[in-house]
Amino acid sequence: MWQYIDNTVASDGQRFFSAVTERRINGIQSKLINDQTNWRTLENRWTDCTQNYINISSNQKIIMVSQTELQQEAKKLDSQYETRSDLFEIPTFKSLGLSDSTQSSNYLCGNSLGLMPKSTPDAINNELKAWSARGVESHFRHPIKGNDWVSVDHKIPSLLAPIVGALENEVACMGTLTMNLNSLLTSFYKPTEKRFKIMFDKGAFPSDYYAMLNQVKLHGFDENALIQIGPKDGETYVKTEDILNSIEENGDSIAIVCFPGIQYYTGQLFNIEKITAKAHSKGCLVGWDLAHAAGNVELKLHDWNIGNQD
Ligand SMILES: Cc1ncc(COP(=O)(O)O)c(C=O)c1O
Repeated sequence: MWQYIDNTVASDGQRFFSAVTERRINGIQSKLINDQTNWRTLENRWTDCTQNYINISSNQKIIMVSQTELQQEAKKLDSQYETRSDLFEIPTFKSLGLSDSTQSSNYLCGNSLGLMPKSTPDAINNELKAWSARGVESHFRHPIKGNDWVSVDHKIPSLLAPIVGALENEVACMGTLTMNLNSLLTSFYKPTEKRFKIMFDKGAFPSDYYAMLNQVKLHGFDENALIQIGPKDGETYVKTEDILNSIEENGDSIAIVCFPGIQYYTGQLFNIEKITAKAHSKGCLVGWDLAHAAGNVELKLHDWNIGNQD
């Protein structure tokens, strides 16, 4: 299901919102997002917001959703793009434990775990059967041709490479994000007396934060070795310009710059190409956590020189 999301934050949120309500007060459902709220609170606020009374301050973001327009637009987009939603198990209100209705929900929650593909139980069971029937032999003689465990990851790079805009030999499929981040930092974070800082997003995913903190600690530094860049007071997203300025200012002491492609909480898409080029120009290594960007936005990691420091 397509959703119209306006992430624009006016410098004067009040006036922006008034302008919108004046024009389209009927039939509009409006959702307010304060950066501090969580999903549950948002769900409650959704109901509040339909009352046409909204108190908005300049550091809040607005998502405008007109149900009629949304449905029309969703139908149009569904007819233009293949949704593949039939390949996934979509929770019903009943399965979610919310009511007795067996109607499918509009499941717009991505978070870390997407919807379960219908093919997952068979795929898992095939491996359990292989384990049961052949034990360790399935490493080299799996009952299903092409599924030998020893080379099970070899099929992935050709599927993954186009999604992140990389060459096949630039992609490896392994571990969890936190494990991968730790492995990469262990290999690439080589602090010197002069260049020892890690610059990253202030609102980084908690496990990303701890990975960075633990790495600097492992090398005898403390939190002062972390430069965290967040939105300025009264702003809801980090301006690229502020990141570039900070790299310019602190670049000589930064070993690694590591931002998310898309911020998991605010939805901000970072300017990967510009930030990478700037960090490279100051001699820093660059890493991107693309947990929420891969598959959602066009990525050109190869063309953007992500893996090269020149
Ligand atoms: C941005 C981001 N970083 C890191 C993680 C942690 O992932 P994992 O549990 O695979 O270590 C997540 C999980 O959703 C995430 O969204």
